[in-house]
Amino acid sequence: MPMTPEVDAPGWVAAVPLDQLRRRKRARVEVGGRALALFLVGERVFALDDTCVHKGRSLAKGSLWRGKVVCPGHQWMFDPETGRAEGRDDCQPVHEVRVIDGVVHVNPGPRS
Ligand code: FES
Repeated sequence: MPMTPEVDAPGWVAAVPLDQLRRRKRARVEVGGRALALFLVGERVFALDDTCVHKGRSLAKGSLWRGKVVCPGHQWMFDPETGRAEGRDDCQPVHEVRVIDGVVHVNPGPRS
């Protein structure tokens, strides 16, 4: 279900409660007009553009396998921290994440 995020600090947007992410390990959110896919890997939260750089499928509808995000389209595997596609030159844009008081916040701008 899409969330309606609220801005709590410049550049940062409250995206989803961490408890919600714990249940499904993934979530799709709209932040600043951009669709992001959030994943919980162990105790770390990662944010990638939701639209796959390959053929545009939704990464949030994919899965996690051995710490990698697997796209449901053609099973490319992305490192959630760098966005790099395993065995390819392609890279999925990634975004900064922080958890404050049990809420996942993301910065929809490109990670520096
Ligand atoms: S659309 Fe993601 S791997 Fe093809």
